[in-house]
This record gives sequence, C-alpha cells and structure tokens, in this order.
Amino acid sequence: MLRINNLVLTVTDPDTGQQTEILHGNSFELAQGEALGLVGESGSGKSMTLKCVLGIEPPGARVTGAIELDGTDMLTASGEALRKIRANDLALIAQNPHGALNPVLPVERFLIEGMSDARSKDKKTARVLAADLLRQVGIDDTERVLRSYPHQLSGGLLQRVVIAGAISGDPKLLLADEPTTALDVTTQAEVVAILDEKRREHGLSMVFVTHDLDLAAAVCDRLAVMKDGEIVEIGTPEEIRDHPETEYTRNLMAARPMLYPKGHPAAFLSENKEAQA
Ligand SMILES: Nc1ncnc2c1ncn2[C@@H]1O[C@H](COP(=O)(O)OP(=O)(O)O)[C@@H](O)[C@H]1O
Ligand SMILES: [Mg+2]
Repeated sequence: MLRINNLVLTVTDPDTGQQTEILHGNSFELAQGEALGLVGESGSGKSMTLKCVLGIEPPGARVTGAIELDGTDMLTASGEALRKIRANDLALIAQNPHGALNPVLPVERFLIEGMSDARSKDKKTARVLAADLLRQVGIDDTERVLRSYPHQLSGGLLQRVVIAGAISGDPKLLLADEPTTALDVTTQAEVVAILDEKRREHGLSMVFVTHDLDLAAAVCDRLAVMKDGEIVEIGTPEEIRDHPETEYTRNLMAARPMLYPKGHPAAFLSENKEAQA
C-alpha cells in the first residue's frame, strides 16, 4: 500500500544556501495491514522519512524519488489530491501527545472534530461516540476525560486519546514517531499494547519509528534499520535478531539502552538472548 522508492531528501541552509543530503536514496514497501519499524540512532533520518511521507519536510527541502500510497505518487500528485490523502488516509502519532491537541479545548472537542462530518452532526451522538472511542483505548472514566483539558491529563492518558482520535478518522496508514518515548516504562508498555491492538483490529498499516529496537521488534512485522540517512538492512525481527547483516545493527543490538524484563511485550529480543546463552 505504501511504496517508497529511491527517496532522497536534500535540505538547504536558509542562511548559507548550503545543501545537505539527509536521506540517501531509501526504498521500502509496506503491505496492507503490515507494521514496519524504522529503527536507528538519533539523527539517522527516521523522523525525516515520516515527514517526507506526510509532506512536512523543512521549508526549501527537495524530495526526489517516489512515495506511492495505493498507487498515487504523493510527490507528483496535485495539491487537492494530496490534501485529501493527508486528511483522510494518514494519521500521525507523535512523541509528544500535547502537540496533537489544542491546549485551550477540552478532549471532547479534539475527538469530535476528528470524526467525519456525518457522525458529528448531532452533538449528543458525537459525544456518545467520543466516549465510546475512549473506552476502545481502555479509558473507563470517559466523562472526566472528555471534559478535561490536555494539561490536566498524564502523557500516557493523552497518548491514548491521540490514538483514539487517529483511529476514529479511519486512516489507511498510521505514522507513529517515537509514540511512547516520553512515557515511563509501565505506561509505555500499556500504550504500545493499545496501539498494537487497535492497529490490528482496524487492519491498519503502520510505520513505527523508534530508537528502541526491542519495542520495534515487539510491534512490527519487519524492521528497517537506519544509519546516517540510509536504510542499511530490512528484515523480520527474527532475521534481525538472529542474523544481523551489519556491524551497525549488531552494535544497536548490543547497546540497547534498556533491557525489558521477561514477560514485558518488548522482551522479544532479550528472551531469545537468554535462551541462546
Ligand atoms: N529542520 C531541519 N533542517 C535541516 N536538517 C534537519 C532538520 N531536522 C533534522 N535535520 C537533520 O536531519 C537528520 C535526520 O534527522 P531526524 O530524521 O530528525 O533523525 P531521527 O528522527 O532519526 O532522530 C539529522 O542529521 C538532523 O540534524
Ligand atoms: Mg526523530
């Protein structure tokens, strides 16, 4: 459903005019319903790759290659076609959920505004639907949360709200950029589990960006390892774990910042290490 071919991103320094190539000709494909992890160190180009898909690369940047979503090349599509694709087919879940919500509006408004027109016509119905959305992401005290302003809620709760909002728009492709990095480990596990569950329920495709190899292995069907703006290998979590092709991937495996305890959803890589030892 998503096909990225030879993606090159070049940015221009607005002061000096100097051009820097940030992404060096990356290609990958994503099947319907598949989750692909983009994994790599900070600065390896993960977020920039998502920005290219969303069409929000820095001003003055040049993107070449192809980014096709269900056959439409987003790099050559017309403004109107693009606007439609971005509004209807893509949903971004970013690291900081506060960025996704208007700070002066209650959660209720965020959820209702994200719904398609037909459903939000009648205010009462829309509110019932909003409460239902919250229940779907494991939030039970829906009245309180609907009435709350973003700053009154914890990051974990708010990220669930963002996931609920993303799903309600019925997108084709979820783009998640370090969606749990700002959360503590326990909340992280819960939010990842919800994201994973909802994605599967709705049959959505997802590109999941993280510096955390374990987390990516837990939720993704395949992993693409990024280094300095380049995808250096792509494989299933098992392939990456058992036969990493590059030194860089081996180092990433060895230098994982946090080892998840057995039983944690992200303990996949660690558990095999134990088994092999
Ligand atoms: N707004 C920007 N303008 C120019 N270069 C940028 C900008 N944002 C990030 N970069 C550069 O692009 C590269 C990739 O960054 P990014 O995609 O954010 O990395 P990651 O998400 O993997 O941590 C880095 O070298 C970074 O310095
Ligand atoms: Mg990033």
